[in-house]
Amino acid sequence: MRLIFVGDVVGSLGREMVHEYLPKIKKNYKPQVTILNGENAAAGRGITEKIYKGFLQDGVDVVTMGNHTWDNRDIFEFIHDAKKMIRPANFPEGTTPGTGMTFVKVNNHELAVINLHGRTFMSDVDDPFRKADELIAQAQERTNKIFVDFHAETTSEKQAMGWYLDGRVSAVIGTHTHVQTNDARILPEGTAYLTDAGMTGPYDAVLGMKTEQVLRRFTTQLPTRFEVPNEGRQILSACYIEIDDVTGKAKKVEPIMINEDRPFGLDR
Ligand SMILES: [Fe+2]
Repeated sequence: MRLIFVGDVVGSLGREMVHEYLPKIKKNYKPQVTILNGENAAAGRGITEKIYKGFLQDGVDVVTMGNHTWDNRDIFEFIHDAKKMIRPANFPEGTTPGTGMTFVKVNNHELAVINLHGRTFMSDVDDPFRKADELIAQAQERTNKIFVDFHAETTSEKQAMGWYLDGRVSAVIGTHTHVQTNDARILPEGTAYLTDAGMTGPYDAVLGMKTEQVLRRFTTQLPTRFEVPNEGRQILSACYIEIDDVTGKAKKVEPIMINEDRPFGLDR
């Protein structure tokens, strides 16, 4: 099974990149499942129904979320019907709308997609490790092909999750830091691992926010509103994963990055 995962899509520039390059990426890599983190898609904060549907039209099968899940109130209107969107599974049990795991059918196979949220330097959600155990047990009743988007701040928490799940899931891919890491590997028991897939959005910005505003806050310590630029150069960050259909173990993991310094097509 071949998958593409697109890292945190930020604002209109990120959405434009998905629209323009996802068809080209699909032509090259021929993924059977495309997953995208959309928690920053609406001007950096949350997602709207229109944007969610736009991603599906662009060929995305599952949209994952993160700490900004609830930032755009539109989500409360459509999350119950958004069967192809998941939010972190370790949000408070029973009271949080939505779900943290979904399944995608590919011919005679199924892929489970799980979204988890870290706790180090982030809000105090439920234990992602214990939640992972619980969901993997459920998923394994249906399939041995499991993809995890671990939306977390620290490299240590993400690496720890990779090791914790090694051999039990097909891939653990990190999101949230918006900077792609250079550590794609297959762990010894067969789990594809990448600490962070990186960001899809403004290229000449700080993690997707206007550089001058971020600099103002760093240099003056004055309260500064952060906005996402709507024009300028763009970046797309993603990764390609290949999973053995029989064993569910990863066979390949490859980062993808497209921007003016690394034009499309040089990755392959
Ligand atoms: Fe995030």
